[in-house]
Amino acid sequence: MTDLYAVIGNPIGHTKSPFIHTAFAQATGQDIAYSAIEGPFDGFAAQVDAFRRLGGRGLNVTVPFKIDAFEYATDLSQRAALAGAVNAMKFEGERAFAENFDGLGLTNDIQRNLGYPMAGKRVLMLGAGGAARGAILPFLEQKPALLVIANRTREKAHALADKFSVYGPIQAIDYPDLQEHPPFDLVVNATSASLRGELPPVPAAAFAPGGLAYELVYGKGLTPFLQVGQSAGAGRLADGVGMLVEQAAEAFEWWRGVRPNTAPLIVRLTVPLS
Ligand code: ATR
Repeated sequence: MTDLYAVIGNPIGHTKSPFIHTAFAQATGQDIAYSAIEGPFDGFAAQVDAFRRLGGRGLNVTVPFKIDAFEYATDLSQRAALAGAVNAMKFEGERAFAENFDGLGLTNDIQRNLGYPMAGKRVLMLGAGGAARGAILPFLEQKPALLVIANRTREKAHALADKFSVYGPIQAIDYPDLQEHPPFDLVVNATSASLRGELPPVPAAAFAPGGLAYELVYGKGLTPFLQVGQSAGAGRLADGVGMLVEQAAEAFEWWRGVRPNTAPLIVRLTVPLS
């Protein structure tokens, strides 16, 4: 029997998840059907219950339901618990297992696909919202020399640095102080600024020559953040298309026990940065 999976979000029209998971299933010979559900803003739990009654085996969860899914779960992974947000669920009987693969997808993309090991590196992350929170634990697990968080609302960056300090070397910084700070090998834009063509106030001085500037948003070309990185001399620019495919691969393996090959899909979905 075909197993049912879906992505739930609102809006959901532009999601690439059905395309990605259907391609993974074809490549690995898995018998699944994967659809997109536009969840009602005030009815996440009822919608998920209905999907489970139809036999649904798992969900990907996207904006704005990652916190609803966190509350819905019966069993949270450590990653999901620390991120305070869930991006994948697996249903077994009465239980709803919950994971957050966003950060792992990001580290996989940076290290395996872009060939940029994070161990010993100086890493700067811009933003302290859901996307940033999900990445902190997977980043610290790679043993960077230092992870620095900068956020427009400074209190949020400080709160995250306090919360995660037991997991590795992390500190918060205010944007203006980046000007005087030694530069970073890896600068990750985990703010939502690029969705509106805005630039977080990161100075060119933050980018180490030859380093990597990574934009979590994908498909927007050379965003203002990537332009600053480029003119500051970052050796490599990347957007979040690889992260998107890698987090999907993690969920697929978690559900099906088979690891799909991500490279062909990343190539298909990549929009040139120029
Ligand atoms: P997401 O789940 O995508 O992370 P979010 O939780 O709303 O979305 O967080 C958005 C992040 O982008 C926040 O860190 C936000 O900064 P504030 O905490 O000060 O709101 C950051 N952000 C959004 N627009 C920005 C901009 N123009 N400049 C700098 N930071 C910005």
